[in-house]
Amino acid sequence: MVGGDEFELETEKLATERIAPPQSFVEQANVTPTQLERFSEEGVDAWEMAGDLLTWDQPYRTVFDEDDGDWFPDGRLNATANCLDRHLDSRKNQRALVWEGQLGETRTETYLELSRKVNAFAAGLRDLGVEAGDVVTLHMPVIPELPVAMLACARIGAVHAVVYAGFSGEALATRMAESDSSYLVVSDGYYRRGDAVSLTNRAETVRAGLDQKVTTVVVDRLGEHHEYSLGDNDYQYRRLLDEHRGETVEPVSRRATDELFLIYTSGTTGEPKRVTHTTGGYLAHTAWTSHAVLDIEPGDTYLCTADLGWITGHSYIVYGPLALGTTVLLREGEADQPPKTKLWELVEKHAVDILYTSPTAIRTFMKWGAEYPDKYDLSSLRLLGTVGEPINPEAWRWLYEQIGDEQCPVVDTWWQTETGGHLITTIPGVDGMKPGSAGPPLPGVEATVVDETGTEVEETTGGYLAIETPWPGMPRELSEETRWAETSDVLPNSEWAYMTGDGAVVDDEYITILGRVDDVINVSGRRYGTMELESIMIGVDGIAEAAVVSGYDDHDQGIYAFANPDSDSADEPALRVRINREIEREIGPFARPDRIVFTPELPKTSSGKIMRRLLTDIAHGNELGDTSALRNPEVVGEIESATQSD
Ligand code: PRX
Repeated sequence: MVGGDEFELETEKLATERIAPPQSFVEQANVTPTQLERFSEEGVDAWEMAGDLLTWDQPYRTVFDEDDGDWFPDGRLNATANCLDRHLDSRKNQRALVWEGQLGETRTETYLELSRKVNAFAAGLRDLGVEAGDVVTLHMPVIPELPVAMLACARIGAVHAVVYAGFSGEALATRMAESDSSYLVVSDGYYRRGDAVSLTNRAETVRAGLDQKVTTVVVDRLGEHHEYSLGDNDYQYRRLLDEHRGETVEPVSRRATDELFLIYTSGTTGEPKRVTHTTGGYLAHTAWTSHAVLDIEPGDTYLCTADLGWITGHSYIVYGPLALGTTVLLREGEADQPPKTKLWELVEKHAVDILYTSPTAIRTFMKWGAEYPDKYDLSSLRLLGTVGEPINPEAWRWLYEQIGDEQCPVVDTWWQTETGGHLITTIPGVDGMKPGSAGPPLPGVEATVVDETGTEVEETTGGYLAIETPWPGMPRELSEETRWAETSDVLPNSEWAYMTGDGAVVDDEYITILGRVDDVINVSGRRYGTMELESIMIGVDGIAEAAVVSGYDDHDQGIYAFANPDSDSADEPALRVRINREIEREIGPFARPDRIVFTPELPKTSSGKIMRRLLTDIAHGNELGDTSALRNPEVVGEIESATQSD
């Protein structure tokens, strides 16, 4: 952890009055203040409201077992039965998925059609030898085959591990090795901003990088003109589906505590961090928050612009919304990618009720100008949501006024890969909104902001955000390793706490997130481990030392990499190319730094530690404080000018 001057407060965020949610929304909202009182009356047992949104094969008697840190421990259920089967009586012909592809294609799957495909693919996976508990890795863009594969795995009790399609073959292999996964469902490629990117060499990279034998299923995305040959252990998705068409597979009854999926994220070490979500607690949490926070009703049309490869896609495209029986719009490609009218065209065309997107996308829409959304009828919208990073009040207001016409509440939802679902946000029909501030912790959740000694700081003072109560969507790693009852070293005053890695400040019970304070940086709603990037850079021939921080100008964040070559006469352009190439090879093109700054030395403290904080200030263009205590203060000016001129 770093020192207390870490936290930059934007007073504008703290000063703002709360805006009352529109009355028309309040009148129809899914949850009311009276319902939420159960949390103060019953404590942890009130999470039964979340559990009760699901259909259980064996109903749970215990909501939370404090000794084991397990949610709904004696309950059994199947996630796919909850997302599909139970809707078939009432809504089999309702659209479950509407897909809008990059090339302008549209495909729809009703609940019945989706259920048939999931059954057929589940039968296919079984045929290939997949059993309950096996890890199946999925590597595809946002195409309907990805939710089909996720739900097929869940149906047979297999554990899916989706690896974002933008990751490199090496990154895919590292994750498959870590999870000991012997099954890969991969598309032949994907479209990035309209250009075809082939993935067919992925299976080769994986085979070369892994000890275990891998069975591969290839999904066709690029069409007939993209040729590839299948190896001995390779199967074609389409053929597998044809062979098993019409078959039904009984959903496998899982314990609530059984794994539903694994997902890898960036942590504070050089290695990807594995997060394991459970079948019961996670599904209850995502269904409850989809209902209470996103206000999703069965029959709504809902659009979330995230990629399925990240946690938002898992929780709030697939599991939460489908558990509630809504129509989910899937868009292949980034939200803020041209054509500039695309998103608004989709909202009008499909009469979207709820739009959930990222602050980065909103800032891009603002830059493009209101004339694009203004061309469309957006009056179907009932609620707007944001996730992934702090939203600046200006962008918040633009969303509220330009897109929502002041008729839609905006929920600024704070959560993480580790939390599985929302933890800090307003409840849209209940709480007033404060632009730039996420809101109070969810009912049933306690959060605190502490200093480096674990002491709670006063309101309006920045500190480290910690969660002090368990929540249903908490990952297996927390209940297994930490046990809720154990005393935390970090927070001596509470029984247990989960340190989130974020800085935050509380004002009038609302929490404003200040950003990451650990060795993770968050850029455009994506997480990068600085250690991971630095170790790749140091691995490049010719680089002696490296430091990676996030920098920004005018709210646009970027990855800033500072590198110290091992000779004075280094060929910097060539080193830059090599650094980018290595990062692309080991992680993927999306992780390339926005800036690579070469410097003869990195700034060091007298004990020899790299002063990343100072580099962050330089990258943010901040006024620098006294640097005389550095071992090498003379490099600061040089780094500053190199950063500005780069
Ligand atoms: O720094 C916080 C930021 O995103 C981090 C979690 O990133 P990831 O695990 O990739 O999950 C992103 C989608 C949930 C957090 O530690 N973050 C997320 N939501 C918000 C946020 N920062 C401010 N406000 C938010 N609403």
